[in-house]
Amino acid sequence: MASMPCLQETPQFLADTKYANPTDVLHGPFQIVHKTDKPAYAWAMGQPKLMADFNLWMAEQHQGQRTWLDVFDFENHVRSSTADTIVFVDVGGGIGQQCALLKKTHPQVPGRVVLQDQPFVLPHAVPVDGVEKQTFDLWAEQPIKGARIYYMRNILEDYPDDKAIIILKNTMLSMAQDSLLIIDELIIPNRGASPRSTFQDMTMMITLASAERTERQWDALLDRAGLAVR
Ligand SMILES: C[S@@+](CC[C@H](N)C(=O)[O-])C[C@H]1O[C@@H](n2cnc3c(N)ncnc32)[C@H](O)[C@@H]1O
Repeated sequence: MASMPCLQETPQFLADTKYANPTDVLHGPFQIVHKTDKPAYAWAMGQPKLMADFNLWMAEQHQGQRTWLDVFDFENHVRSSTADTIVFVDVGGGIGQQCALLKKTHPQVPGRVVLQDQPFVLPHAVPVDGVEKQTFDLWAEQPIKGARIYYMRNILEDYPDDKAIIILKNTMLSMAQDSLLIIDELIIPNRGASPRSTFQDMTMMITLASAERTERQWDALLDRAGLAVR
């Protein structure tokens, strides 16, 4: 997201901040380069063309890769669902690629599928029968209670730990005993990370004061939030 000029600014920024790990979403190379005091997402929201391109990139960048449905037994998890059960909530789901994939892969499973995102994103969602759209705010309590699955892809990577914890807790407030939160993100190995993932980590740092997380860092974050990993 408008990150290349930020890379050029980064050596000076890091020297000026004594090489501390950036954690302030309001103060980083992004703000200096784009002469803004807003977080990157808030800055980008005012630019519909940029956001449309970004949403498309988010949807397409995983094409050809295995998906969460290749490694998770969805039908078994929601086996007792009825037409009224909310089986899947895509939290910050962008243009709804995962809802579409779910409907295509498991068309016979009863239950409601909900795509949640910001009001200016949802009109761009791919049209799929049976997918409900709901505007929501990551910073408020999750409005859907007791869904069987809450799913987050490429959400927590956008935020430093303190903010990621708020998002997790907002979701946990609405989870029932049989709810599952599926977090679909990069896990960087504790040693031997690939160049692709370290570059993505850099991009997160310079635009969002965030980071891709190693396995150890994910465990620590989820532990802090009070979640058990399954
Ligand atoms: C990196 S994109 C991920 C989109 C999608 N999950 C995917 O993997 O393709 C982050 C998403 O979070 C949404 N988002 C950001 N801030 C939000 C907020 N405050 N409330 C609701 N959604 C938000 C964005 O609109 C965007 O669709």
